[in-house]
Amino acid sequence: MRIDSENGVGAYISEIDLNHLNPESIAELKVALGEYGVLFFREQNMTSENHIAFAEQFGRININRFFTPLSDYPQIAQVLKEAQHSTNIGSAWHTDHSYDQIPALGSILVARDLPKSGGDTIFASMYAAYDALSDSVKEKLAGLTAVHSSRHAFGIDAYKGQAKSERKGRLGNTDAATQDAVHPVVIKHPISGKKAIYVNPDFTTHIRELDEAEGNQLLEELYEHCKQEKFSYRFAWKDGSVAFWDNRATWHKALNDYAGQRRLMHRITVEGVPLYGA
Ligand code: SIN
Repeated sequence: MRIDSENGVGAYISEIDLNHLNPESIAELKVALGEYGVLFFREQNMTSENHIAFAEQFGRININRFFTPLSDYPQIAQVLKEAQHSTNIGSAWHTDHSYDQIPALGSILVARDLPKSGGDTIFASMYAAYDALSDSVKEKLAGLTAVHSSRHAFGIDAYKGQAKSERKGRLGNTDAATQDAVHPVVIKHPISGKKAIYVNPDFTTHIRELDEAEGNQLLEELYEHCKQEKFSYRFAWKDGSVAFWDNRATWHKALNDYAGQRRLMHRITVEGVPLYGA
């Protein structure tokens, strides 16, 4: 196995076949995931069974509540945009499942049907973003906690003003959007032990210890800081590409720049552990 880090935000793993891994390789991948936040693989040939078997090496599979699964494999959520859809899934910066009290470790996304061009995913390192904060901001964040929720993102209000045809067959179960969770604003990463920012624009609603105006201002400043290009890497999908990201170390967003074309990805999310402050 060969590991090439891109600018510290993610790493390409080559000389590996994800369908045939021994325990040593799995252990190495776990460490690399914690270290780099996202692992990119090319030229893989994974069936749905292979995808599930690979994911199970890293933890229990979380059955997605909101995305339409494959009919034969409820463990696999479809991240789908048909040619007639105008919106895509995951277009805003986010970290999956931060609204869960025990948030998911990460997701393994396999490219299944790609547009001719476009549809890249951008990942941002929350380690690098934290490290670049000034000492005074780091001090301010220490001990703060934030509330995260799925209600506004996957509940019925999330689709207000949108035609039902936009979500039919790909997103649903709005009644299940009832999750709220509190997590430290800065966490100690469970694998690497490094400090990472753990708030995100999609799911974080407010900071508990600050009044609304001060908390919102701090979140906006943090988001602007984290969005800087120097903390991110843009991954261009090809047939056979797989990305495995760690939600506790990264943000990601899917670009919606392929109007009139289909994009289908298969996602498995792996359950994580409770998060603690740094
Ligand atoms: C996601 O946010 O889980 C989907 C990312 C992508 O489709 O590139």
